[in-house]
Amino acid sequence: MTDLAGKVASGLAGKVAWVTGGAQGFGEGAARRLASEGVTVMISDINETAGRAVAKDIGGGFVACDVSDLDQCKAAVAATVEEFGTLDISFLNAGIATGDQLDDSFDLASYRRAMGINLDGVVFGAHASYRPMRAGGGGDIVATASLAGLVGTAFDPVYGANKHGVVGLVRAIGESWPNDGIRVNAICPGFADTAIVEPMRDVLIAGGITLLTVDAVVDAFMAAVTSGRSAECWYVQPGRSAEPFRFRGIPGPRTDEQGVSYRE
Ligand SMILES: NC(=O)c1ccc[n+]([C@@H]2O[C@H](COP(=O)([O-])OP(=O)(O)OC[C@H]3O[C@@H](n4cnc5c(N)ncnc54)[C@H](O)[C@@H]3O)[C@@H](O)[C@H]2O)c1
Repeated sequence: MTDLAGKVASGLAGKVAWVTGGAQGFGEGAARRLASEGVTVMISDINETAGRAVAKDIGGGFVACDVSDLDQCKAAVAATVEEFGTLDISFLNAGIATGDQLDDSFDLASYRRAMGINLDGVVFGAHASYRPMRAGGGGDIVATASLAGLVGTAFDPVYGANKHGVVGLVRAIGESWPNDGIRVNAICPGFADTAIVEPMRDVLIAGGITLLTVDAVVDAFMAAVTSGRSAECWYVQPGRSAEPFRFRGIPGPRTDEQGVSYRE
């Protein structure tokens, strides 16, 4: 049994997980938590040295993978299935922040890299996971989006765009993939104390912002992956249990008094 905080035994023992961006930060934290719950973990990262060290420490595997490359994502999933027999959980978590603006400083290569890792990386990871998960009777995919996927983020508009993309993707495939036994969720953390916020850490703290701990974000991941739900985007805020964000419904078409659709 598990509670929303994910602190109680999760019931995931014996499963096989693939974690992208597992060399440090949220990915490392989730890999360690999963391993402590009896899950066999295959870590992927572009940082081979750190990724291999975490894998060794938790008795898991490592396969180098740049998530912005479809063939590398497919190869990493194939290596997971070959080494551990199946794939039950994919944590599509690798990501970067660039702070790119769309003014005269716009840099096309940096934009493509950010979209390639943060959005393509989730699309490719989900695509690569689909066939083996379905063949194995189903599974859980959790993508790391961000609060930047739910609110506007002027400080990094490209990040906001790709994280909104992840939210849209998860809400789309999360509706239909349960037909094949595959649940798809996103976690949407606020600012957390990892390397990615290092450039703005002091400014955030001076501004009175409380940073999430890695452990709190891993709790949210555990809540999502054990929830049995799909197409949900779990916001993560300091001091609160993660919960699915309630999107406001779109008002229906306007009609006149006779119930006929309104015409301009
Ligand atoms: N820390 C935060 O405040 C915060 C908040 C919301 C969402 N996020 C998201 O959480 C995820 C994890 O970030 P983190 O905070 O743990 O940062 P992090 O920098 O500590 O970890 C990111 C990991 O991703 C790896 N990575 C980068 N590019 C990669 C690629 N092309 N292929 C494979 N691996 C790659 C890095 O080597 C690193 O190990 C990211 O998607 C990030 O956007 C972070």
